[in-house]
Amino acid sequence: MPRFKSSHLLVAESGADREGHGLRRTMGLFQLVCFGVGAIVGTGIFVGLSDSVAQAGPGVVVSFLLAAATCVFTAFAFAELGGAIPVSGSSYSFAYAGLGEGTAFLVGWCLLLEYGVSVSAVAVGWSQYVNELLDSLVGLHLPTALSAGPGEGGVVNLPAVIVIAMAAVLLVRGVRESARATAAMAVLKLAVLVAFIAIGFTAFEDGNLTPFSPTGLAGIGAGTTAAFFSYIGFDAITTAGEEAKNPRRDIPVAILVCIGLVTLLYCAVALAAIGAIGGDAVGGRPAALSYVVNQVTGSTVGGGVIAFGAVVAIASVVLAVMYGQTRILMSMSRDGLIPRVFEKVSPKTSTPVAGTLIVAVVFALPAAFAPLDAVVNLCTIGTLATMAVVNITVIALRRREPGLARTFRVPLYPVTPLLGVGFCLYLMYETGATTWIQFAGFLAVGIALYLLYGRRSSRLAAVTPTDAAEPVREAV
Ligand code: ALA
Repeated sequence: MPRFKSSHLLVAESGADREGHGLRRTMGLFQLVCFGVGAIVGTGIFVGLSDSVAQAGPGVVVSFLLAAATCVFTAFAFAELGGAIPVSGSSYSFAYAGLGEGTAFLVGWCLLLEYGVSVSAVAVGWSQYVNELLDSLVGLHLPTALSAGPGEGGVVNLPAVIVIAMAAVLLVRGVRESARATAAMAVLKLAVLVAFIAIGFTAFEDGNLTPFSPTGLAGIGAGTTAAFFSYIGFDAITTAGEEAKNPRRDIPVAILVCIGLVTLLYCAVALAAIGAIGGDAVGGRPAALSYVVNQVTGSTVGGGVIAFGAVVAIASVVLAVMYGQTRILMSMSRDGLIPRVFEKVSPKTSTPVAGTLIVAVVFALPAAFAPLDAVVNLCTIGTLATMAVVNITVIALRRREPGLARTFRVPLYPVTPLLGVGFCLYLMYETGATTWIQFAGFLAVGIALYLLYGRRSSRLAAVTPTDAAEPVREAV
């Protein structure tokens, strides 16, 4: 049976043909899972858990499950799109093929919030834990002027800038070393969290879990949005398509394994913490995990070990997320939507050196000067927006290209992608009015950039109207 493809699919696929030039396929399933864990587990559990517990109490466990469900719906959507469209570059590439260039540009623009701004946010979280670690190791506390931005009583957040610079150096040196470093860090941080769970459960008391949901459904809803930040990054795995040995099979499996693994871990960490000292004592407490361990063991050594784990964990998130950002920018550059400098791969290191350095410099600025809350909320709303679009893309593509070969189909279509969109919109709603206003402003700038630059310089614009309109027949 013949099948037909739209010009967007064709342009996306011809881009895919050119992809892989200069990048080596080195990552198997284990490396992809480590890469995912590296991108996911960080500030959210080490710093953000106390916020989610403050909102939801012990019901935070339900919040984690709801946040995980949002991610799983979207993971199914990624799997269907990944098995139908041979491109890499995360939700941007899928939106490009499924919804067209303009939407794709805006998705790529929002990914700057998910990836770039989260690099900044996570680096600020790292800075706090570096302080905590130095304090517990040698009693040294960095001056506030040099360890916090102006919004938080300081001048410049130097440790946050330093961790971004270190990640840039590793990424420029090549994916092989970065992947190895990421795997080592992923294993270490999992070990630290498992140790935390074991210590917390030695002091577990049932009574600390009641009342289970002191703030009711509203609290669990707010807790879900807060908990969602700790899942951001799972889709970074899709950006490794060009470096994965068997991307179609391994990438969806790696995403689901990662979500399952971190959900188990997060729920166990929350239960251990609350079971040991109670939800009121955990809620809103800085460096809560170190505090719990200190309380249970009656010494500050354990808290220092946890702080060390947090420093390592959060550094690996910076590394993995910055990697994802550079790969997305490569895809956008290949499509002509942003300047060509982002797609240049150095023949010496096989990495996009210039793109990596630009990303590092641009996102070091908010890390140095912006308050943590603002960047975390923007990152959350931007991520949810891109995930909603991924679910919509599945529906759009099923309608527009029903004959397209798909190696995986989302179960219970269209319920699953519709639920995915609904969950994303609900969690976006929970981020609050200020974040929505900032997000609207950010989108307006993106639309202007597309109209003034992207639309004119794109590869799609270079396709003649006749070519673009002509459906292309392809033998199956
Ligand atoms: N999920 C990432 C973290 O928690 C953003 O640090």
